Amino acid sequence: MVRKLKPEEQAWCIDKETGEPLINKGVQNVCIDKSTICFIDGYHSKLFIRGYSIEDLAEKSCFEEVAYLLLYEKLPTRSELAEFDDKLREERDIPEKLVNLLRNIPSDIEPMEMLRTAVSYLGNLDPERYDISRDGMYSKAIRLIAKMPTIVAYFYRLSNNMEPVKPNPDMGHAENFLYMFTGMHPDELEKKAIDTAFILYTEHEMNASAFTTVVIASTASDYYSAIVGGIGALRGPLHGYANVEAMKQFNEIGSVDRVDGWFKEYILSKKKRLMGFGHRVYRSYDPRARIFREYARMLAERNGGEVKEIYGIALRLEEIALASPLAEKGIYTNTDYWSAIVYAGLGIPVDYFCTLFAMSRVTGWTAHILEYTKENRIIRPRLFYVGEVEKEYIPIEERG
Ligand code: ACO
Repeated sequence: MVRKLKPEEQAWCIDKETGEPLINKGVQNVCIDKSTICFIDGYHSKLFIRGYSIEDLAEKSCFEEVAYLLLYEKLPTRSELAEFDDKLREERDIPEKLVNLLRNIPSDIEPMEMLRTAVSYLGNLDPERYDISRDGMYSKAIRLIAKMPTIVAYFYRLSNNMEPVKPNPDMGHAENFLYMFTGMHPDELEKKAIDTAFILYTEHEMNASAFTTVVIASTASDYYSAIVGGIGALRGPLHGYANVEAMKQFNEIGSVDRVDGWFKEYILSKKKRLMGFGHRVYRSYDPRARIFREYARMLAERNGGEVKEIYGIALRLEEIALASPLAEKGIYTNTDYWSAIVYAGLGIPVDYFCTLFAMSRVTGWTAHILEYTKENRIIRPRLFYVGEVEKEYIPIEERG
């Protein structure tokens, strides 16, 4: 006889004290493991990567060093960094087969969808694809970190009828990406801005995309499958695509004098969410956003024109949002708000913003995969069943 379940029939979901089901939609504040990778104090605007403050890393370090820190759990010595950097430079080229694939991917596709396909294909071509050892994972990670910028830059140029620009072994990782992408040698401000952007996006604890990579890795699946999953999760507008949406929002507003009216019409009325604002963990200003904001200012002042215009819109929008009921609810500026303007200031088209996030975050994803799988346990949550059981199966001929 069809019926609903009694609570004791799924006792594992029931709180013994209250008798209510234990449901944590969004797995908020659930710790899935112990970690030494990243600590976020969301109430006091603090972020530490392997114990180092994000401010120190952004000011004093470089992407290669932070990537090493994430993968090898310590800051490198001079020779360790040089060796790691050499490996990255050697691995920047992408196989001709992959270049051909990039030529054949529709040029109007979302760049994140291209990246998902290209990384998956790179996995097919990887000489160590069947090596699932930890050493094998390190070599694959270095290869992927090195090649993702080349993939993105090549696709951008090919889909815009421009010749790809080959990697320049004399340039650092982030600088070389900007060079391959724009075809121009970055100046000092651009070099520092792109390198800082790469550092700021390397790692951010057990967010949706990191969790996706770890879930996949926990099944003992391969490294590339895990990263492809991470790219898929990052691509959502509630996560990594928010910087794309933030820029679209600034463009939609169009001019500084329209900001107040737009905010009232769409945000205060709750018709839209303010993109680049709010965070599951931060109830204060995202410390990365503060650093991006300074680079946005420098680039806007230096570039003038449209970037300065957008910067002005973002500045006013942030000012009223921080004085609005949003801030009272703990909804503050997140990193994607100001990174959008930094990317625009560096000449990156809006639909490519999230690819930059991915090519940096692959380092953090890898650190989490390595850490979680050291003492692996498959990730397998439960659901509280509210449907019916013991329904009579009626053959299709009798269902009408
Ligand atoms: N604008 C307006 N209201 C917001 C915003 C926002 N940006 N963020 C949260 N809220 C409101 C919600 O409407 C909800 O209001 P209610 O209580 O009246 O229903 C309340 O705050 C709680 O929102 P949730 O969605 O439950 O918060 P959650 O922690 O699940 O979401 C998220 C976090 C997805 C980041 C959210 O703040 C958001 O959508 N922000 C905009 C997108 C964005 O910028 N994402 C980037 C995040 S950072 C990153 O991934 C790099």
